[in-house]
Amino acid sequence: KIPANTLFIGKNLVFMPECHSTNTHALQLCQEPSTPEGTLVITDNQTAGRGQMGNSWEAHAGQNLTFSFILKPAFLRPHEQYSLNMAISLGLYDFLSAFLQQPVHIKWPNDLLADDRKVCGILIENSIQGSTLAHAVVGIGLNVNQANFSSPRAGSLRTVSGQAYALQDVLDTLLVALEQRYLALRQGKTAQLKKDYERALFGLDEVRPFKAGGEEFEGTVKGIDEAGRLLLETAAGMRAFALKEIEFVY
Ligand code: BTN
Repeated sequence: KIPANTLFIGKNLVFMPECHSTNTHALQLCQEPSTPEGTLVITDNQTAGRGQMGNSWEAHAGQNLTFSFILKPAFLRPHEQYSLNMAISLGLYDFLSAFLQQPVHIKWPNDLLADDRKVCGILIENSIQGSTLAHAVVGIGLNVNQANFSSPRAGSLRTVSGQAYALQDVLDTLLVALEQRYLALRQGKTAQLKKDYERALFGLDEVRPFKAGGEEFEGTVKGIDEAGRLLLETAAGMRAFALKEIEFVY
């Protein structure tokens, strides 16, 4: 059902009972210049979901939300890609905090944790044309009603709150939150987004173990730099880490 309370996200809706990957499908739709910004691809059963760093994403059919939407953030330069990740992560953060009424964190760069369990994953795929971001496909896997997970680090809204939810209600509320943060980005409110994002980071100002280049060490999350790298205060001073360079040990 087309969401009632958004301006453009989901107004053009593509529903497929089954689909390999909504991100892959949305990337194909981006090839059509007539595809409007906000086009949303959603499925009940994603059979070959893709995650970050070449991982797969699995979701039980009909129990969770798996969808992707198309943005056209031509106002961003390629080196500003990270700000889109901040806006999307924060949209989910806002939604989850309000919906669950309990503490939620963003585990850098963009895992959403509630009750220290990952309840949501984000995969953003950008296409750069010249010096701007022509399209971004924002893929979201939000675990809603799934009750059992093989990993103790994974969960759903249901495992966190004990309640089951109507997927349509969750989607409608979530899309509004995502759109609000995207509009803030479009209005250039990057400094505010960065501040809110850093405040939501998992491990902020706490001494925790990390692993980088085969070495384990303690560090304290301090925020991110302009490129979105994670800033850790360590015994060797402040260090910045890019994706793939660092792992949380937790
Ligand atoms: C991750 O945490 O590794 C990111 C997972 C992203 C999964 C979503 S589900 C909808 C969309 N389609 C995909 O193939 N992947 C994303």
